[in-house]
Amino acid sequence: MGVRFKGWGIAVPDRIVTNEELSRTLDTTDEWITERTGIRERRIGGSAMTLGTLAGQRAMDDAGVKAEDIDFLVLATTTPDRICPATAPMIANELGLNCPAMDVNAACSGFMYAVRTAYGLLETGNKRILVIGAEHLSRWVDWTDRNMAVLLADGAGATVLEFDPDGTDLLSFCLGADGSAADLLTCEHGGYFQMNGREVFRRAVRVVVDSAEKAMASAGITSADLGIVIPHQANIRIIQAATQRLGIEMDRAVVVLDRYGNTSSASIPLAFDDARNNGRIKVGEYALLTGFGAGMTWASAIVRWS
Ligand code: COA
Repeated sequence: MGVRFKGWGIAVPDRIVTNEELSRTLDTTDEWITERTGIRERRIGGSAMTLGTLAGQRAMDDAGVKAEDIDFLVLATTTPDRICPATAPMIANELGLNCPAMDVNAACSGFMYAVRTAYGLLETGNKRILVIGAEHLSRWVDWTDRNMAVLLADGAGATVLEFDPDGTDLLSFCLGADGSAADLLTCEHGGYFQMNGREVFRRAVRVVVDSAEKAMASAGITSADLGIVIPHQANIRIIQAATQRLGIEMDRAVVVLDRYGNTSSASIPLAFDDARNNGRIKVGEYALLTGFGAGMTWASAIVRWS
């Protein structure tokens, strides 16, 4: 059996916040942020529901499917509108879906966890699943804390996954979690995101390399076979370090964090959208999709675009 990506869509807030704007209220500079992270500006606004709804509708339009064609909605979000209820049923209502809907929280690995979940649901009888990654990280940022304020942002991206008995776009996965590292990146109830940046950086490179190697081995390919890498967009230096260790030229990696910052569960579909708009998604080519984040969690997948 197999699974096809049928359509994609994104949504980002209109409001652009540049590094220069942040440096007016924080003890930071455009130079520091650009050099240490690669981020130049980010989008701020909306909510997981509003952004997720828009991205979901666009993915359905792109796939040419209607509300009644969707059997299940899986929403990846770290920043649901409310603790309860989940945001997915509210998005389903906005989209006119009449199907089960649930949230998955795996932080910045969320989109790939949601894709993995959808894959399992398709294996067990569902025909078409809407997968959305949507985040309102800015709501949980202390805007006086330069450590986090320069990194996190808002956005959403979505895809429609469809069962295909005759072939598959998704060739392999490698997912993992290590709760012993839970305290490295947290947001307590009523609090703000806090992080041990250096340690997260170190572990992020390690888990991306390890999970990517395992996913490639299980798909029977090597890094030389990859046409493109669509990584989670946290820090340009993490992407550079990981691709270098994997023996992949940096120009094969998609980078959109300069425009969007770190949008957690939304970053992989935002990067896909940019790659597609720039003609970088080629039928028959292999792609590595890879994410990591709080938990810690990580998730890599090998895709062959049809
Ligand atoms: N502006 C200016 N200076 C800053 C700053 C900012 N926004 N944030 C930290 N600094 C300072 C520090 O206080 C420190 O000063 P000191 O040398 O006087 O102590 C100096 O810059 C270097 O700090 P350090 O933490 O060593 O920087 P770094 O090179 O590790 O970069 C991160 C910090 C957060 C950008 C980097 O560690 C990182 O990206 N980590 C991974 C984070 C991540 O991806 N998280 C999401 C996972 S999904």
